[in-house]
Amino acid sequence: MAELVLRLIEPGDVGALQDLIESDPGYTERVTGNPPGAADAQSLLMMRPEGLAQDAKVVLGAFAEEQLVAAVDLLRGFPNDRTAFIGLLEVHSRHQRRGYGGATYGLVQRYVESAWPEVRTMRLAVVDTNSDVATGFWLRQGFTPTGEERPYTYDKLETTARLYEKQLPEQDGS
Ligand SMILES: CC(C)(COP(=O)(O)OP(=O)(O)OC[C@H]1O[C@@H](n2cnc3c(N)ncnc32)[C@H](O)[C@@H]1OP(=O)(O)O)[C@@H](O)C(=O)NCCC(=O)NCCS
Repeated sequence: MAELVLRLIEPGDVGALQDLIESDPGYTERVTGNPPGAADAQSLLMMRPEGLAQDAKVVLGAFAEEQLVAAVDLLRGFPNDRTAFIGLLEVHSRHQRRGYGGATYGLVQRYVESAWPEVRTMRLAVVDTNSDVATGFWLRQGFTPTGEERPYTYDKLETTARLYEKQLPEQDGS
């Protein structure tokens, strides 16, 4: 596994982000009911929950030797000030099951700990139609189910989203 560098996705990365999304059409189908569309990268960069400030959302890329290996959609202060929400962590299909997903999550947690020191909890949702792929991975990263579940609908897809959280270790301020 090559060394990973995490940084913000920039306008020049949009093509690589679209390529990453299109590399795993099964994921998009499992969470939207449809295959990827031509504007999915642009939508990922723009979409955020209603009421959340624009600068509270970042889309990060994990790069190995300048190639985009994984993309992460991350929200600061959602749904409360002390929580960061991972909307997406996706590894390019060519690079899955080689350690990059876990390494990317490790970098994301470090990013949150240093850039957003008020955050105490990492949170995310796994939808049942994607559970076989995502649940084992997130448990391995230290997340546990909160027991909360929500109906999840996207166009014609109707399933259930289950919430997972991980508490961040107390930071030593001294
Ligand atoms: C889920 C995903 C990010 C995992 O990334 P990855 O690079 O394939 O995972 P890694 O190789 O880093 O695996 C990390 C650990 O999780 C485990 N793991 C990965 N996928 C797993 C699965 N489907 N079931 C059980 N465990 C799994 C690995 O065995 C590994 O364990 P280890 O640390 O003991 O070796 C990747 O499959 C993906 O992008 N899927 C499509 C998008 C998606 O579903 N994202 C999650 C929802 S937001």
